[in-house]
Amino acid sequence: MRKVISVVSGKGGVGKTTTAANLALALQEFGEKVIAIDCDLAGSNLALHLDLHPNPEKSLQSVLEGKRNVLDAIAIHKTGLMVLPSSHVTREDVIDPGKFKRVLSKLDGVVIIDAPPGLTQNLHTIISLSDEIIVVTNPEIPAVADAMKVVEVIKEKKKTTENTWCVVTKSDEIKQQLNDTEIEMALEVPIVSKIPYDKFLKRSIFERVPVVRYNPYAPSSIEYRKLAAWLVDKRYEPPKIATFMRFIQRLRR
Ligand SMILES: Nc1ncnc2c1ncn2[C@@H]1O[C@H](COP(=O)(O)OP(=O)(O)OP(=O)(O)O)[C@@H](O)[C@H]1O
Ligand SMILES: [Mg+2]
Repeated sequence: MRKVISVVSGKGGVGKTTTAANLALALQEFGEKVIAIDCDLAGSNLALHLDLHPNPEKSLQSVLEGKRNVLDAIAIHKTGLMVLPSSHVTREDVIDPGKFKRVLSKLDGVVIIDAPPGLTQNLHTIISLSDEIIVVTNPEIPAVADAMKVVEVIKEKKKTTENTWCVVTKSDEIKQQLNDTEIEMALEVPIVSKIPYDKFLKRSIFERVPVVRYNPYAPSSIEYRKLAAWLVDKRYEPPKIATFMRFIQRLRR
């Protein structure tokens, strides 16, 4: 069984790669076999988030070019997470839909795709080949406006938004922001998760350890786990001592 979940946005910098990395690790914690693929060819940084080689020879490109077998190109993160990274290029090469479909057909488990920003041809391909789509936005007008365009593409390609979910990241960062109802009305897609603006997450990126591993008690970690559990229909009880643990962590700093 394979389930392809893509993380898309429209606007850049809203938190796609952060979401893809943390979701992949959280899903793995729930016992899922997970492979994360970096499809943001021009701006690939999933490997950086996971402290893997930033310009690997074994990459999605090498598989698409037929130089390598997909299973041979997968890097194993220290947590056991499988990652198909992208090599460092300065252009957005076009992913051949047929070739990418064949790559996906060789994988099983949950495949998490980190998509590029913008309404590129590659985004269209990714959407077409996904079973579920997570539209990441921030609660501000430019991000939601771009997310609306992505939803239009989803409607065009899939004829439905049935398996499309909205994740609002960096929520509560600023006071003047759109509320949930406004975002859901604009996108016509339900918000299934809100990841708060989190200084632990900022630190985790600097340390190159996704926050669900860096600090399991961080507010963003708890929300990423809730999202992962919801996606695969598992039960998750947030730790009751999270607030207490965060208090202790603050005292130690
Ligand atoms: N919940 C959060 N709290 C605080 N900062 C966050 C949060 N989520 C993401 N960020 C910050 O936002 C920045 C952009 O995140 P990320 O690289 O995941 O976005 P992206 O959508 O993948 O960007 P791009 O479109 O360039 O690929 C990162 O520097 C990260 O530190
Ligand atoms: Mg990214």
